[in-house]
Amino acid sequence: MMQTVSICVCLSLMPIFSTCWAHVIPRLSFPLGSPGRSLAVFTSPDVSNSTTLLLSNDEGTLFVGGRDAVMSIDVSQAGTMTMKEKIDWSPPNSDQRHCLMKGNLEADCHNFVRVLQVLNSTYMYACGTFAFNPRCIYINSNTFSVATGPSGKPEEGRGRCPYDPYQRNTAIAVDGELYTGTVADYMGNRPVISRHLSEGSHVDLKLDDTPGWLEDPTFISSTYIPSEEKVYFFFSETGNEYDFIDKFTVPRIAQVCTSDVGGQRTLQRRWTTFAKAQLRCQAAQELPYNVLQDIVSVPAPEGASDDETLFFGIFSSQWRSNAGRSAICAFTLKNIKEVFAGNYKRLNRDAQKWTTRVQEKIANPGECGLHNASKDTLHFVKENFLADESVLPANQGLTLVSPDQSYRNIAAQRVRGARGKVYTVLYLLTESGYLHKAVILEKGAHIIEEIQVYNQPQPVTNLLLSISRGAVLIGYAEGVVSVPVSNCSYYWSCAECILARDPFCGWDPVMKVCTDATNQQSVVQDVDGGNVSEQCKSATPSSEQSGLPGSPSSEVLSVPLNEVVHLQCPEASQLAKRYWERLNSQLSPKIYIQLDNGRLSFVATPSTLGHYQCKAEENGYIQTLVIYDVKQKHLLKPTVAQKDTPVLTRSRNDCWCVSEKDD
Ligand SMILES: *[C@@H]1O[C@H](CO)[C@@H](O)[C@H](O)[C@H]1NC(C)=O
Ligand SMILES: *[C@@H]1O[C@H](CO)[C@@H](O)[C@H](O)[C@H]1NC(C)=O
Ligand SMILES: *[C@@H]1O[C@H](CO)[C@@H](O)[C@H](O)[C@H]1NC(C)=O
Ligand SMILES: *[C@@H]1O[C@H](CO)[C@@H](O)[C@H](O)[C@H]1NC(C)=O
Repeated sequence: MMQTVSICVCLSLMPIFSTCWAHVIPRLSFPLGSPGRSLAVFTSPDVSNSTTLLLSNDEGTLFVGGRDAVMSIDVSQAGTMTMKEKIDWSPPNSDQRHCLMKGNLEADCHNFVRVLQVLNSTYMYACGTFAFNPRCIYINSNTFSVATGPSGKPEEGRGRCPYDPYQRNTAIAVDGELYTGTVADYMGNRPVISRHLSEGSHVDLKLDDTPGWLEDPTFISSTYIPSEEKVYFFFSETGNEYDFIDKFTVPRIAQVCTSDVGGQRTLQRRWTTFAKAQLRCQAAQELPYNVLQDIVSVPAPEGASDDETLFFGIFSSQWRSNAGRSAICAFTLKNIKEVFAGNYKRLNRDAQKWTTRVQEKIANPGECGLHNASKDTLHFVKENFLADESVLPANQGLTLVSPDQSYRNIAAQRVRGARGKVYTVLYLLTESGYLHKAVILEKGAHIIEEIQVYNQPQPVTNLLLSISRGAVLIGYAEGVVSVPVSNCSYYWSCAECILARDPFCGWDPVMKVCTDATNQQSVVQDVDGGNVSEQCKSATPSSEQSGLPGSPSSEVLSVPLNEVVHLQCPEASQLAKRYWERLNSQLSPKIYIQLDNGRLSFVATPSTLGHYQCKAEENGYIQTLVIYDVKQKHLLKPTVAQKDTPVLTRSRNDCWCVSEKDD
């Protein structure tokens, strides 16, 4: 069959490399199955929805809460994950029937494990949706089997775990007690932050029913800061203080003290230390990124005050004009503490309006140790729980804004690179299944690479970082994936190693390899500048490395005259600009078509025979990627079916097309 094949290039549509967003393009992209970034995958036919993850203290075992099961997986060997033990925990048929009768889908009438925490050296604690009738169990950590709890009775899960598996919740165990944020009813209307498993004078606590303490929240995460003796909760909720916007979502941080035992008459068995504040992730002159997706804490550097603890959050926007975008903002514990120590808003119950209170302050809301406080004091804290100021991002700016990625989960760590310089690295899981690894630099974030970890969009995912094992663990519907934090040996030359700007990697000038740089003195690295000419002075220039991987390949191509020639150029990096050159001459766009994917096309004529080089320019460094020698092919006998002579035409606008007939 004869077909007309045309390729066109339109000058007016040449992609404009927007400098503004240039840095949020991942430098390298590894699709699923790329040899340069191999993944360890755990799947098992009878295991699904493995989305609740917990690492053992030595980070050698991963505990996983999935559908109708709790598992322990050995993650101590890089590159493999094997199941050690599994507890089957499914609701009996009667519960499932009951669940179906209430009109739920069969697929949702299972037990989705949503709480998994270590209580003490003997027990773990797990809670699941249990066919829309939440339950909890004790797990003996030594035998990894279901244990009878101290009460000897089955553990009620209401207020600890949601009913609906698609409802988000959070839980954290501190000193054998369980702090949770979830909805506590079937309809999902009664959100509550509460404490369970308390003993002695430490009673179980929950939120008072005072209006406004929680407003239709979506719980995201919780964290314990020992030096503050506080548990912090992160969530989004309706911001009723903005009464001029209907249903305005507001990201929040709330706090409670672990020493809280409730009041004596007022606020009996209720939090006396609950306070909340708004998180603000917003650039000047722009709509706020107001929907919290995920947030993690990064402990203060060794030796520094806990005030330097950082919280990195992913935020999206409730407005369509910002749909599909995400922003990352960082908050310091210092700023959070200042906001909680400041003034509080007050709700005028008659007018249903919030005002900044100008009144005698008879207590500091959010202060620990109010259990013997007077009735007046407790009344005051009961009415004053919303901090007046918002928590602003550290350094007043957004850490990263991605115009086209919906980030879903985040993990973060501080990395000590070559010669002890410390960087913050973020791991961001996109909705479409790519893991982005970014390093935060003074000039903005640089996305070192993206790695595809699955190819179906997932309803629920989770991300956990094992710093000591150097692996990112991702739980999703079909299993768990482990991604090494880096693969320095992928970078074949000093230039590539420096251009990567990966704090984990540096060039060893003696061994001539790109290798682990963390805390090394003898390797070269330039994460901030990526300056190859400075760092690779002593390294062999790439032109002398012929034969090594990554040195430009040289090819001879023989073509008959009047054929269209296509030359391919590999992609060194998504940040590199590729272009073609002939020795001593420019390529006229009247004769040559250079495509954005690196391809060069032209018609073979006596004047176009010769040498061609594809070069890439990145961060001021130019390297040759491939060299072609295009020669004339002398046909021994005339071809049977003479091909039509291809034509290069200028079509509408600024487009150039080559058309040729193909068999
Ligand atoms: C690292 O990259 C090298 C070179 O592409 C590859 O051979 C190796 O398998 C990769 N290792 C991992 C763990 O991905
Ligand atoms: C662990 O917690 C359980 C239940 O709270 C308690 O009965 C037990 O004594 C604790 N064990 C240790 C070693 O602390
Ligand atoms: C609170 O009061 C009780 C008795 O009224 C007393 O025993 C207890 O020590 C007090 N606690 C604190 C922390 O002051
Ligand atoms: C569980 O996994 C299945 C795919 O295996 C997915 O369709 C479903 O939405 C998941 N359910 C939850 C609650 O995550």
